[in-house]
Amino acid sequence: MKICHLEPLAKLGMIMKEKLEELYKEFESQVSLLKNQADVLNLKAEYLGKKGSITETLKFLKKATVEEKKVIGPMANSIKEKVQKQVNQKLVEIEKKEIDQKLEKNKLDISFRDSLKESVLLHGGLHPVTLIQQEIEDIFLSMGFEVLDGPHIEDEFHNFEALNIPGDHPARDMQDTFWFHDKETPEGKRHLLRTHTSTIQVRGMSTRKPPFRFIAPGKVFRCERTDASHEMVFHQLEGMMVGKDISVSNLIYFMKTLLREIFRKDVEVRLRPGFFPFVEPGFELDMKCLICNGKGCSVCKQTGWVEVLPCGMIHPNVLKAGNIDPEEHNGFAFGLGLDRLVMMRYGIEDIRHLHSGDLRFTSQFKSY
Ligand code: DAH
Repeated sequence: MKICHLEPLAKLGMIMKEKLEELYKEFESQVSLLKNQADVLNLKAEYLGKKGSITETLKFLKKATVEEKKVIGPMANSIKEKVQKQVNQKLVEIEKKEIDQKLEKNKLDISFRDSLKESVLLHGGLHPVTLIQQEIEDIFLSMGFEVLDGPHIEDEFHNFEALNIPGDHPARDMQDTFWFHDKETPEGKRHLLRTHTSTIQVRGMSTRKPPFRFIAPGKVFRCERTDASHEMVFHQLEGMMVGKDISVSNLIYFMKTLLREIFRKDVEVRLRPGFFPFVEPGFELDMKCLICNGKGCSVCKQTGWVEVLPCGMIHPNVLKAGNIDPEEHNGFAFGLGLDRLVMMRYGIEDIRHLHSGDLRFTSQFKSY
């Protein structure tokens, strides 16, 4: 504040000028320390209010000379303005700080990343069978296979007849079937809950031309007496490859690759003859029980081996049912038990855990 050009001031003028400057300095140092708006307004009242210290000082102006009034008047106004300006700035600064704090506290993550994490944990995730199914799908997709789906309610043709299992064949007794009490359809087909995913073999073959390869995962149903290794509803994954000059070594290659990828190590396997009407020759591919390490337990029925992969070369009758000429093309098929695989992978000793719906069990698996 330049006020020197109207000097010399009389004594009162000098005192007022010094007093106002002192008050302003005092105000400045106090306002900078304040943290809430009420305190700022109180401080303003202490200086500019009716009984405020600046207001009180200015009362002496009445006694000043005209010359002094000319100098002190504008100076006082300028100090009042500066105080008011600082008060306003401080109020805005405090308000902004408070808003920022509130925003930080009630932060809303519009990407939902944090809240999703929480809700996935709260609401669960994928079942271990689904996890392993997706993993196997990825393995086969990477080897050029398609992934097919099929109906749970099937007809007798696709579940049995097309697979070389006619009505009077004893192989039907191997699969305790849930039949529907429906009338035969005009084509003479009764309905049932599919007992295996092999139903997809003929459906897949008749809708594509060789060469092709596909897998078909899904639920299957059998009227089983349940125990540690049997359930009425379980999961299989059917696979098929059709082309020219396909051999058993192709089959073994794909099966070994699959097991190595799933268990992330070479798993000990054995191949023995197995009878399935839809393959010839047919095999049972067993793997060393990973629950007991081959010592014998309830899962492997004390044998140390678990059947995981029945398979074989597709029977000519099945190829014919799928409109494929067995003189020209051949192929292999396999049916994988997904539940058993899950049990081996995670060391689960009883298949009934898988359908128990017990969250203490299901929440143990990686879910996303
Ligand atoms: N469908 C058979 C079952 O559920 C499993 C099976 C065996 C599937 C041999 C196949 C196969 O594709 O070749 O018992």
